[in-house]
Amino acid sequence: MHVVSDLQWGGRFAQPPDPQLIAFGSSLEDDLVLAPFDVRCSRAHVTAQLEGGVIERPAAEALQAALDFVADEIGSGAFERFARAGAFEDVHGAIDARVRELAPEAGEALHAGRSRNDQVATTLLLYVRDRAESGLRVSSKIARRFLDLAQTALDDRTLLAATTHWQPAQPVLLAFWLLAASAGFERAGRRFAGVAEDALRFAPLGSGALAGSSLPLERDAAARELGFREPSRNALDAVGDRDVALDLLHAAARAVITASRPSEELIVWMTPAFGYAKLGDAAATGSSLMPQKRNPDPFELVRAAAASALGTLTGALASVKGLGLSYHRDLQETKALVIGGTERALAALGAFDAALAHVTFDHDAMTAAAARGFTVATDAADALIARGIPARSAHRFVGEVVAASGSQTFGQNELEVLRANTGLSDLKVPLDPLDSVAAKRTSGSTNPSQIAKAIATARSELDALERRKG
Ligand code: ARG
Repeated sequence: MHVVSDLQWGGRFAQPPDPQLIAFGSSLEDDLVLAPFDVRCSRAHVTAQLEGGVIERPAAEALQAALDFVADEIGSGAFERFARAGAFEDVHGAIDARVRELAPEAGEALHAGRSRNDQVATTLLLYVRDRAESGLRVSSKIARRFLDLAQTALDDRTLLAATTHWQPAQPVLLAFWLLAASAGFERAGRRFAGVAEDALRFAPLGSGALAGSSLPLERDAAARELGFREPSRNALDAVGDRDVALDLLHAAARAVITASRPSEELIVWMTPAFGYAKLGDAAATGSSLMPQKRNPDPFELVRAAAASALGTLTGALASVKGLGLSYHRDLQETKALVIGGTERALAALGAFDAALAHVTFDHDAMTAAAARGFTVATDAADALIARGIPARSAHRFVGEVVAASGSQTFGQNELEVLRANTGLSDLKVPLDPLDSVAAKRTSGSTNPSQIAKAIATARSELDALERRKG
């Protein structure tokens, strides 16, 4: 039993609350992760109270000392035990109760001028900022890992029969695929950076329940202390706005969806039928029954994490749909979805990065397969176009050669037939996939020099993204 009441209200109620409904209404398990952010928010509220003259310095010092103590207890795990032992509605009530236990007299003043509505909104923004920075870090780490892999694959000139519809399309360098994978994570990092930036904007603290406060709270000081640019401009909006939190969840879901796509390809490449890639022992898993099995589970789980992130995002967006302005208890569910979805998505991104470290590519298998499926057919058609044959006719000439070929590749025999059919006896086609990639001339193509340039550009873009002032 705690020394002070677990609930922050009760004066007007004649009967005690139904424990089942208090348990149903509690968000403690969902918002315990917010504890360190609430402490910062509470400290800033004390600053606003002190600087506005709502409380005297000794009371402010007692409150700050109690909040410091709670911060230590959060670090040691003692606070979590305290919170779980009570019947609190949320982490905010638990911290308030602990402060009132630690500083019985001053503790009474902590909530003056504050509602959980502005407290929840502010605390959630601090969390969003923190996790958006984590999202940026892990996205850029993954992007860099792909760039390192791309550099090695470029040096080795490893080829890949790139596919559309999973059908062989054109030869590219493996480095080009790795660079493409990296690009998605650079975008993910940029999106997280934007969310972090938006979460710095307006501080809801001092908005009270919805109307602002008649106590002289120094809102600017509180906003400054928490690193916000300015206090929010409309209390009614500030307590009910969850847009930035939803943006974080969207950024997280999108990043995991980004991870699910190379995951899918790696899973397929790791099958014996492809044999392009291998997952090291530390990341692969076995079967309890089939002794030979070697499964790429981390990538499958990332693929599935994208599904749950998407579901959680949809649920969170739906939870605010049609809500009147200001605070409604539904927003507690929004918060749980944002936090749960973000934590899971960040864990999936971390696991994706860890699993990537154990991937190796089979240069010989990939390179040997690069010409299979007539992948230089487009080069043959381009060669005809360069010789003045209209594009549609060039396409048909090459298609007819492919249809008549008994082979899997467009090789010397096919070239001879094409020469005979078109009367261009000296027609040149880059039959070797390495020559095909070298023949690409456009910027952003799979030409090795374009790839080298793109790797360097991507590295400096990531440097700038990481250096940006948060
Ligand atoms: N547990 C609630 C939440 O996390 C706290 C806000 C309660 N506010 C209220 N007016 N009942 O959203």
